Amino acid sequence: MGKVRLVYVCQSCGFSAPKWLGKCPECMEWNSIVEQRAERTKKRGLRVIETGKGPLSLTEVRTSPEARSRTGVGEFDRTLGGGMVPGSAILIGGDPGVGKSTLLLQTLSAYADKGKTVLYVSGEESARQIRLRAERLGTLPEDLFVWAETSLETIVEEIRERKPDVVIIDSVQTIFSDALESTPGSVGQVREISARLISLVKGMDVVLFLVGHVTKDGAIAGPKVLEHMVDTVLYFEGETAGAFKILRAVKNRFGSVMEIGVFEMGDSGLTEVKNPSEFFLRDRPIDTPGSCVAPSQEGTRTLLVEVQSLVSHTVFGTPRRTIVGVDYNKVILIIAVLEKKASLLFADQDVFLKTAGGLRVDEPAIDLAVAASLASNLLDKAIPPNTIVFGEIGLSGEVRSITRTEQRLLEAKKLGFTRAVLPKESLRAAPKIKGIKLVGVSNVREAVEVLFDE
Ligand code: TYD
Ligand code: MG
Repeated sequence: MGKVRLVYVCQSCGFSAPKWLGKCPECMEWNSIVEQRAERTKKRGLRVIETGKGPLSLTEVRTSPEARSRTGVGEFDRTLGGGMVPGSAILIGGDPGVGKSTLLLQTLSAYADKGKTVLYVSGEESARQIRLRAERLGTLPEDLFVWAETSLETIVEEIRERKPDVVIIDSVQTIFSDALESTPGSVGQVREISARLISLVKGMDVVLFLVGHVTKDGAIAGPKVLEHMVDTVLYFEGETAGAFKILRAVKNRFGSVMEIGVFEMGDSGLTEVKNPSEFFLRDRPIDTPGSCVAPSQEGTRTLLVEVQSLVSHTVFGTPRRTIVGVDYNKVILIIAVLEKKASLLFADQDVFLKTAGGLRVDEPAIDLAVAASLASNLLDKAIPPNTIVFGEIGLSGEVRSITRTEQRLLEAKKLGFTRAVLPKESLRAAPKIKGIKLVGVSNVREAVEVLFDE
């Protein structure tokens, strides 16, 4: 009998090594490497696209007009870039309990209502549980087939026979294949299973949704290993307990990334938030120091978000910086610029900063609003409630121009704002919009003067 060969595989990124390591050299994760038996099956490689035809001139490649199928749930279709593309594989990641199963059951029920066949394969819940949930959501479409099954071979056979329009695998970590020796949920299994399913749907023009849990402890494989294999990666985020949830495209071969869909979780499932700006501003305190509204561009849509901060004297030791919704380092950098260029001292102050509603904003245009919010709370002077603030801040304190000025101003006008503090450079590109007064600033000191010295 041959000796069993062992390999050590990182459960977070799939890196494999001949000996055990405490820290993965690939993704720098600690304690993520687990001993596994080496697979004896022949390496098939990850053949995802049809091959064997040899190179073709681009003009010879035959195409069909890109037919997108809309589910009818607007926020979902928008995040996908305008609907589902047949033959594409979509990964939906997110923390356990955030609402991935609910989202898919609800949106694809709407799709099944149009007479399309949807196959929902669940390795986590029984068919009965899924029906109970569907009842709670108020949908029981006839063309939605639920199936509690975990064997890859059986699932593949069923897809071949039934030829559904959409297949949902919830979750990919629970599916196993007889041909593989590693345990279900390990990186090796997850990768091989996904590759098999993806190549199957590519040939059949079926839309495939793979659900993947994200966990930190590495007990089940993170969906990171799948990101390069699929066409679209969506993350569903939002505090598990919180009511509002964001569906975010982080990779999309068929649309814009940065695109987001906003949902609210209620007693009977998710409802779309059609006007998120209103939603994020609905409890905004008026005339309160530390609150500042900025227009942020998320994909094709502009959202108004409120940045809030609280600056208070440090009682002992090193000042604290607690930041939610904006990149930590960005805020530290803006604090340093405010100290050096606008003579506002934060060295003996604790700083707490968050975006209202917990929306994560990564856009440079938020910089000036972060600075304005911090300055406002430190100086204890409120920013007028009719004012929005946006612009990128450079290290020498300059306020740099940003894109899509017009769209941002229009969204602000729609919500009743009448004044905008923006980069001087952007003024040139900005069209005149009736009812909004534009104030251009070229550095942070000027911005602080404009906002608080009148
Ligand atoms: P679920 O969709 O099971 O999450 P995941 O598949 O990402 O693990 O999450 C459901 C959560 O949402 C659960 O905590 C209960 C809550 N929920 C509601 O608040 N209202 C509802 O109508 C439903 C179906 C679920
Ligand atoms: Mg689930």
